[in-house]
Amino acid sequence: MGGKANGNGRGIVGRGANVIVVTGASSDMGREFVQQIAYWAAVGRVDADEIWVIARREERLRGLVGSVPVTVRPVALDLADADGLETYRGLLVEKRPNIVMLANCAGFGRMDHFENVPLGDELAMVDLNVKAPVAMVSHSLPYMRAGSRIMNLCSISGFLPCPYINVYAATKAFMVSWSRALGRELAHRGIKVTAACPYWVRTEFFDRAQPKPGERRPFHNFVGIMDARAVVRQIIEDTFHGRALSLPGWPAKVIFAATKLLPVRALMWSQLRLQELDGRP
Ligand SMILES: NC(=O)c1ccc[n+]([C@@H]2O[C@H](COP(=O)([O-])OP(=O)(O)OC[C@H]3O[C@@H](n4cnc5c(N)ncnc54)[C@H](OP(=O)(O)O)[C@@H]3O)[C@@H](O)[C@H]2O)c1
Repeated sequence: MGGKANGNGRGIVGRGANVIVVTGASSDMGREFVQQIAYWAAVGRVDADEIWVIARREERLRGLVGSVPVTVRPVALDLADADGLETYRGLLVEKRPNIVMLANCAGFGRMDHFENVPLGDELAMVDLNVKAPVAMVSHSLPYMRAGSRIMNLCSISGFLPCPYINVYAATKAFMVSWSRALGRELAHRGIKVTAACPYWVRTEFFDRAQPKPGERRPFHNFVGIMDARAVVRQIIEDTFHGRALSLPGWPAKVIFAATKLLPVRALMWSQLRLQELDGRP
């Protein structure tokens, strides 16, 4: 299989174990993804020998070893760091896996007025939510074949400008746009790309996103918030089917429809009303 031209000028080089790669695997949606996809691998719906689980907290990644019915390889990396991404590339060169699925789940957000969020946090969001998945896909593609899947965990916020979480939403807008166009470009290789766009999901995301306890929290209304298990179940189903877009749960579907019908100003107005915000810091 090695060296076959694939149109990106780099050839298909994967000839080792069949591998599923999951970033953000140390908590919530990423971990749930690992648990559910391992079940599907065990029953033969996806042909995988190993799952590579990536995040910074190594002890949590190690906790997945032996807890699912597929071999798990913990790979502790900081994906917001160029060295972390280079380490991943080096691992691919060494192991030459056949990547059957890449799930980009790592990401974080900050909820506050733009003037209250340190610039370092805003730029770190761009590094982790945008640059890291682009690099992960670029490094992984030479190791993918026809039938491989890419799932990018975006957000329904990628369809509308979101005051008080504006950089995060903009990173997700990039991800939705990029994922859909990338899927079109990879169709000739039989590789499908799914942009998964959940509404609020009950996870540790909020621990990092919200201002510290005791400080004013602009966001307080999370009506319709969903559980990670159901959300991930739908995302995996849509990924298996190679759907370009996954909208898990009714709130994501309603908001998606609203973004097609209402002007952007009305969408932003209703978000501010919901959170009782007036645009000031
Ligand atoms: N929760 C929601 O309401 C919601 C809604 C829509 C979309 N999403 C998206 O869903 C994805 C998963 O979020 P979640 O809700 O499951 O949040 P979460 O529990 O906070 O998970 C985030 C994951 O990203 C990893 N991560 C963070 N910084 C990293 C770094 N520098 N390098 C490598 N890994 C890093 C974390 O692991 P370590 O800390 O161990 O590195 C963790 O595993 C994110 O992309 C998020 O934007 C969330």
